[in-house]
Amino acid sequence: MSLIESINTEKLPNHLAIIMDGNGRWAKQKGLLRSLGHENGTKSVKKTVEACAKLGIGNLTLYAFSTENWSRPKLEVDTLMKLLVHSLKKELKTLQKNNIRLNSIGNLSKLPSPILKELDEVIEKTKNNSRMTLTLALSYGSREELLNVVKIISDKVKNNIISVEDINESIINQHLYTRNLPDVDLLIRTSGEHRISNFLLWQIAYSELFFTEVLWPDFTEENLYEAIISYQKRERRFGKTSEQIK
Ligand code: IPE
Ligand code: IPE
Ligand code: MG
Repeated sequence: MSLIESINTEKLPNHLAIIMDGNGRWAKQKGLLRSLGHENGTKSVKKTVEACAKLGIGNLTLYAFSTENWSRPKLEVDTLMKLLVHSLKKELKTLQKNNIRLNSIGNLSKLPSPILKELDEVIEKTKNNSRMTLTLALSYGSREELLNVVKIISDKVKNNIISVEDINESIINQHLYTRNLPDVDLLIRTSGEHRISNFLLWQIAYSELFFTEVLWPDFTEENLYEAIISYQKRERRFGKTSEQIK
């Protein structure tokens, strides 16, 4: 039986998030420039996006560029930004064909204006698509996101728009970049690193985590299915006992 046949389509994660890591090491292993690792990484993005949409996953969030990634050598940052505009232009067709809506999270004001323009255009053109929401985390850092939430809520308290007593988890959720997304059910990280690297800290409080040694440019549909099958075998207890869940 092939892996895909082992997937229970009734029990898919509604929100899958992926830390796409290992492009640089993939290139290094092959004696190539890091930029070629990133270029090949975009092929895995395309495969994964299409596979998720076909399976029926409602929300896919990809960590494409972190707040901390701005500290990489300028040449690498520039390459990543160019690759991003190029992919957005190229993959609009793929998004339309698969009925996928594009969304983005992060401190987008830090992105170069051609990227922002392209991003806005693709978001606008795909806004009525309904099969899956693809969210790109760009210039995203969870601590920055939370800091921002604290500032906005404090300001609302100061201006008597809300009272301190009104602040609850739902209010915090409504002020996050992810306000329109459900909690993350499954988080995958490639490349053998076992860390979160400032990604969706609040949103993954009860996510299932899946780590794989596979470097992102080598990540295939089969690796995706493997992660989903592992997720489907787990019992999510949310603090309760096993008996309470059943
Ligand atoms: C992930 O691959 C892509 C980004 C972080 C933008 P890396 O570039 O981090 O690859 P490694 O971790 O150096 O192998
Ligand atoms: C996390 O990968 C960010 C993205 C995948 C975009 P990094 O390669 O930047 O993370 P660290 O530095 O290994 O923690
Ligand atoms: Mg890395």
